[in-house]
Amino acid sequence: MKNILVTGGAGFIGSAFVRYMIDAYPDYHVVVLDKLTYAGNLDNLLPVRDNPRYRFERADIADRAAVERIVEQHGIDTIVNFAAETHVDRSILQPDAFIYTDVVGVYVLLEMVRQKGVQRLLHVSTDEVYGDIPQGYSVETDPFAPNSPYAASKAGAELMIRAYYQTYGLNVVVTRGSNTFGPYQYPEKLMSLFITEAIDNRPLPLYGDGRQVRDWLYVLDHVTGIDTVLHKGVAGEAYNIAGENERPNIDVVRALLKELGKPESLIRHVADRPGHDRRYAMNCDKLRALGWQRQHSFEEALRETVAWYVQNEWWWRKIKTGEYLEYYKTQYASRLG
Ligand code: NAD
Ligand code: TYD
Repeated sequence: MKNILVTGGAGFIGSAFVRYMIDAYPDYHVVVLDKLTYAGNLDNLLPVRDNPRYRFERADIADRAAVERIVEQHGIDTIVNFAAETHVDRSILQPDAFIYTDVVGVYVLLEMVRQKGVQRLLHVSTDEVYGDIPQGYSVETDPFAPNSPYAASKAGAELMIRAYYQTYGLNVVVTRGSNTFGPYQYPEKLMSLFITEAIDNRPLPLYGDGRQVRDWLYVLDHVTGIDTVLHKGVAGEAYNIAGENERPNIDVVRALLKELGKPESLIRHVADRPGHDRRYAMNCDKLRALGWQRQHSFEEALRETVAWYVQNEWWWRKIKTGEYLEYYKTQYASRLG
């Protein structure tokens, strides 16, 4: 029996992990700890809400007293950390929350392993720590070269994890996932923003020339990668989780428009993101050696994702109000003119 604390479990990937773990491991108990920032959403956890092996605690990972209480009260033996500020554009507008949650918050979780009897911490990181990769593929031993405040805060957390492993010998593992897409993604990222905007025939603000390359990973494949590392990963190691599906943004946008039956005239080339990385690409042989393999092709996953947003307007329409519209205006109003 495991008592797993899933921090950030009300977000996009964290909630997919919770829904998967509750199904896949009938003897595990899952406690979600989430601050419910703009990106946290209890609707993402509706499918498990009434499961007796699931509990929810609203708290901040950087609030040490609160995290300690939750760890003790639920007899937590394992932490899987998804909690983070995650959007590059927001990190450019306002970096402070990124440093607070992504760095200080991770320090608090490390202290739970060092001092409070938690036996293992899996930290969910990102390919963005490697920075721009004009050619070739990042391997886990490559140096970090983050280019946005978001990427730098994720790299900072990883360096602290490394130091805790070297200094205290803690049982910590890290995953570095590539650009993830699927249902329940807050509609600020490329896929979820553009699908929901296109449904309403609104302009799609493509940064710069749209030739930047990302490696697209379906959320369920990301989740099984994390599960594999949680159970089989070696302490002190990091594992890349790649989609091995590199595409220029413009191709992704054309594909989702085609799937929706919407015209390419919705695409608007707008002012680029400052410090915009041209390409991310990772090698994931190390994770494959643990027995993981992807189950979803990009085409099938894109079809399912588009269909989900079409069928679940109840989920995203209520997000696209209030604070969301303020953010949208700040980010896009002058770009779209
Ligand atoms: P998300 O923005 O959808 O969710 C983040 C969650 O963390 C939200 O539920 C939010 O309420 C919670 N949170 C934020 N600050 C918190 C705090 N101080 N205390 C407690 N909870 C807090 O993010 P996501 O896309 O699901 O990403 C999850 C993790 O995966 C992040 O660590 C991110 O860096 C990493 N990642 C994401 C991607 C991607 O493409 N989305 C790719 C690779 C790695
Ligand atoms: P995003 O989903 O924000 O992920 P990340 O920046 O972490 O890779 O962006 C994916 C790509 O899409 C990235 O190259 C930036 C681009 N993009 C746009 O062109 N327009 C947009 O409005 C957004 C949100 C992203």
